[in-house]
Amino acid sequence: MPDRLKDMPDPPAGLLDLSEKLSHADGIVFVSPEYNNSYSGALKNTVDYFTKEWARKPIGVVAGSSGIQGGINASNLMQLLILAINGYAMHTKLLVPELEKSLDENGVPQNERLAKNITKFADDFLWFTEAIANQKKQDAENAG
Ligand SMILES: Cc1cc2nc3c(=O)[nH]c(=O)nc-3n(C[C@H](O)[C@H](O)[C@H](O)COP(=O)(O)O)c2cc1C
Repeated sequence: MPDRLKDMPDPPAGLLDLSEKLSHADGIVFVSPEYNNSYSGALKNTVDYFTKEWARKPIGVVAGSSGIQGGINASNLMQLLILAINGYAMHTKLLVPELEKSLDENGVPQNERLAKNITKFADDFLWFTEAIANQKKQDAENAG
């Protein structure tokens, strides 16, 4: 069973650094290839180290695969994972099918449809993140 950062008496510096970065982020995007109808073990391992860092945080989902479904199964499970860690799962997600030919080595989309989907995802992510960040700011002002 993985330890949680909050239970570690002497946590590694890298985990503390990531905790700090996550805590200060207004929004987060989970990105994973699809493996056996799910997201990567590396993502889950990272998620399990943290607790309060995810809470009430807007989190978007990006999945990809070599097949034509673009990691749809992984993306659905990532949204459930986000609910389990008390994050706010964003409604729009970005799926990248046929990974080998959809993006070049610099991550540039190789077809019009993917380019449009990336723009829509980015626009929705900014809207969602800003809406929640503004509400948190207002809550803090009202409390203080
Ligand atoms: C063990 C394994 C399981 C996979 N399972 C799926 C799957 O369930 N659905 C799918 O669409 N692609 C599946 N793929 C294809 C991957 O999504 C694809 O190879 C992707 O590019 C993997 O990213 P990577 O090259 O960074 O490992 C699988 C690949 C591997 C190696």
